[in-house]
Amino acid sequence: MNPQAFSTLHRNLPREGPGEAADIAWLGRQIKLPEGARICDLACGPGPDIGPLLHLAPEATVVAIDHNPQYLGEAAEEWAGDWRVDLRLGDMADPGGPYDLIWCAGGVYFLGITEALERWRDSLAPGGTIAFTEPCFWQDPPSEVVAHIWSGYPAMSGEAGIRARIEAADYEVIATRRLADSAWQAYYGPLLERMNALYEGADEDLLEVLRAAAAEIAAWDEYGDEFGYLLSVVRPA
Ligand SMILES: C[S@@+](CC[C@H](N)C(=O)[O-])C[C@H]1O[C@@H](n2cnc3c(N)ncnc32)[C@H](O)[C@@H]1O
Repeated sequence: MNPQAFSTLHRNLPREGPGEAADIAWLGRQIKLPEGARICDLACGPGPDIGPLLHLAPEATVVAIDHNPQYLGEAAEEWAGDWRVDLRLGDMADPGGPYDLIWCAGGVYFLGITEALERWRDSLAPGGTIAFTEPCFWQDPPSEVVAHIWSGYPAMSGEAGIRARIEAADYEVIATRRLADSAWQAYYGPLLERMNALYEGADEDLLEVLRAAAAEIAAWDEYGDEFGYLLSVVRPA
């Protein structure tokens, strides 16, 4: 896939994966963060979750890290100059810290759950929490067609498999939540609008990217009751 064409489709979208502020408000009801909580938004993309994360505790600060300078620049349009937010171009494998909360929406699968949790353990302050979203089969094993849709991510599992990968890193699960359809719409709604605006005059590279996005959305429309994202809240055991 041509990176330039991918970037044409994805630039200046509000978010780069399913998610919504309600997920973070729910997280705030599962854990108690200290005043002045140090929060890390790992793989922050264009920064849609920074605002809701800042609301989780009085005087909270957020270090937002992504390796894509375009997304970070988009986040900077809203947050540069805000003393509560530190935007960093960096690798999520090495987030620094210590943090009271590490939040990672739609990024853990680049590392794998067990490896990510093992790597991030030293970045947690005592009593710190990690919350992350991860693609999940609601029906396990998945139907043949859904297994095929996700064949590019062989580690994908049902909820029990996610729990097993968390426990393999010696963490315990505090709470889980299935992301709602509205979380998908928060991503796919603006993406579809952009796609519709780009078809006319698109060259072959862009058409390839548009077709792939259309296939992804069609798969969710048709089979979205069989898979989704699971938000897991975890702590070292
Ligand atoms: C599915 S997007 C989610 C972005 C954002 N959390 C959101 O919900 O809009 C995944 C993000 O992971 C970032 N990413 C992938 N690998 C990374 C790495 N090794 N270090 C930092 N960021 C990474 C991508 O640039 C992208 O912004």
